[in-house]
Order: sequence, then C-alpha cells, then structure tokens
Amino acid sequence: MATTLCISIFCILFITSSAAHDEKNVTNNPADQLVAIVNRNRTAHKVSSLGNNPGLGCIALQYIKAYQGNCDDVGKSKKPADSEFADTFAPKCGVELATLAPITGRVIGCQSDYVNPERAFTEILTLKNRSLNIINNSTYTEVGAGVSGSDGGGPYFWCLLFSNAKVNSSFLLEGGTAKATNPGCFSGAHDDCNGAYGSSQHLNILSIFAAVFAVICYTIWV
Ligand SMILES: *[C@@H]1O[C@H](CO)[C@@H](O)[C@H](O)[C@H]1NC(C)=O
Ligand SMILES: *[C@@H]1O[C@H](CO)[C@@H](O)[C@H](O)[C@H]1NC(C)=O
Ligand SMILES: *[C@@H]1O[C@H](CO)[C@@H](O)[C@H](O)[C@H]1NC(C)=O
Ligand SMILES: *[C@@H]1O[C@H](CO)[C@@H](O)[C@H](O)[C@H]1NC(C)=O
Ligand SMILES: *[C@@H]1O[C@H](CO)[C@@H](O)[C@H](O)[C@H]1NC(C)=O
Ligand SMILES: *[C@@H]1O[C@H](CO)[C@@H](O)[C@H](O)[C@H]1NC(C)=O
Repeated sequence: MATTLCISIFCILFITSSAAHDEKNVTNNPADQLVAIVNRNRTAHKVSSLGNNPGLGCIALQYIKAYQGNCDDVGKSKKPADSEFADTFAPKCGVELATLAPITGRVIGCQSDYVNPERAFTEILTLKNRSLNIINNSTYTEVGAGVSGSDGGGPYFWCLLFSNAKVNSSFLLEGGTAKATNPGCFSGAHDDCNGAYGSSQHLNILSIFAAVFAVICYTIWV
C-alpha cells in the first residue's frame, strides 16, 4: 500500500516537473531581451540593427565579473584594461583569440535591485550612464550583452559591448558554444536564462522535491 502510494506520488511529481521544463521559452533571457531593445531603439533612430554575437555576449558577462560585484566601482575610473579582453575574458569564454576583434563601444550599469531589461535600458544604461550616444553609434555591426548578479544575487550589472567586425567571423567560440559561465546571462546563445537568479535553472524546485521524495520512498521500501 505504502509502496503504491509512493510510486503514484513520485510519478505525478516527475510528470509535473517535466512539464514545467517544457514551458521554457528560448527567448526568455534578459540579455537577449536587452539586445532586442537596443536594436529597436537603433532602428527607431534610423541606424542599423546589430548582430547578436554569443562570443561577444559571453565577454560582456566576463567584463561584468571583473567588477567583482562592486557596484560603486562602475562610473569611476576602475574600468577593466583593454588588455584584459585578450588575456582574461576571451579565454574564459573559449573565444578563439585569432577572431577577437576590437571592442569599439562599452556601456555598463549597475543597481542593487533587479529590474526588467526595458527599465535597465532606460533607467540604468541610458539615463544613469548617459550612453545613448554610444548605443546609437552608426558604425557598429554587432553587439553582445551580459546581465549578472555578482554571485546569483544582487547587485545587478548590465553590460553592452559593441564591435565593428563581421558577425560571422569575429568572437568565434571554440566548439561553437561558450564555456560554462554561471552565474549570469549573456546574449546570442539562444538559451534560456533567468536574470534574477543569475543562471539557467536546469534544476527546478519540483525536480529537487521529486528526488528527495524518491529517496524517502526508497528508505521506507527497504
Ligand atoms: C517565446 O516567447 C515569445 C514572446 O514572449 C513568443 O513570441 C514565442 O512564440 C515563444 N516561443 C515558444 C517556443 O514558446
Ligand atoms: C558608463 O559605461 C562606461 C563603459 O563601461 C563606463 O566606463 C562608465 O564608467 C559608465 N558611467 C557611469 C556614470 O556609470
Ligand atoms: C531610445 O531610448 C532612449 C533612452 O531610453 C529614449 O529616450 C528614446 O526616446 C528612445 N528612442 C526611440 C525612438 O524609441
Ligand atoms: C544618438 O544619441 C545622441 C545623444 O542622445 C544624440 O545626440 C544623437 O542625435 C543620436 N544619434 C542618432 C543617429 O540618433
Ligand atoms: C562611433 O564609434 C566610433 C568607433 O567605432 C568612434 O570613432 C566615433 O567617434 C563614435 N561616434 C560617436 C558620435 O560617438
Ligand atoms: C552570416 O550569418 C547569417 C545569419 O546566421 C547568414 O544568413 C549568412 O549567410 C552568414 N554569412 C556568411 C558569410 O557566412
């Protein structure tokens, strides 16, 4: 009796948690949403829409990590040195160094609480940082965005990096995908990512609960 009950409950939990997984929407990534907002604003200003490069996006997330969660350092003269792109950020992402192109624009902003990408664009990146003149520069061809809490929580950093190189031949990733870069989200990889929690939620609460329940059942069983 106890065994049958256990198996039924386990099955229900398992099915529910798989269903929750299937609801994932690949466009559900605050870094990709930020790129979409940038492109909408650019085309409204009659400048070209930019390619969304995952290698550049991953570098944007590493750029954020260089601040080590110190929101106060943003806006001071503490920005990462140019040499760090080749020395640190690109290797961490697995970007092939031969395809590393010059970064011609950078914008970073930070705030203690999480806001949606729309508000991050207007309130943090364009109002606080006064960077619309960078974002709407007509010479760029591609963009990468990173969004991160320092360790999965606040403060939340938003970063845009721009380049004038060819989208398909710059910032190429070894093996086609970026190395693991959690916590945080970056644009261009067509992956689901939760900005408020800082990483892809591959394990949801229900899966964990189902696993714990399975262990309990097993214990009762034997
Ligand atoms: C993902 O979400 C967008 C808008 O939020 C929607 O247009 C699209 O159809 C969704 N895709 C899937 C696979 O559910
Ligand atoms: C705006 O972003 C740039 C690019 O990283 C950064 O150097 C600057 O400090 C930021 N300014 C403010 C006021 O946050
Ligand atoms: C572009 O974004 C800026 C900053 O949020 C805003 O002031 C401006 O109205 C936007 N432009 C268009 C055409 O939407
Ligand atoms: C870009 O933004 C700056 C600052 O808001 C503005 O002066 C300039 O006219 C804009 N350029 C375009 C092409 O919209
Ligand atoms: C646009 O970016 C280029 C570098 O790609 C820079 O030389 C130029 O000064 C920028 N233009 C404006 C208006 O900021
Ligand atoms: C570059 O990528 C775009 C979009 O993925 C594709 O349509 C285009 O054919 C590619 N161009 C080259 C030269 O590979």
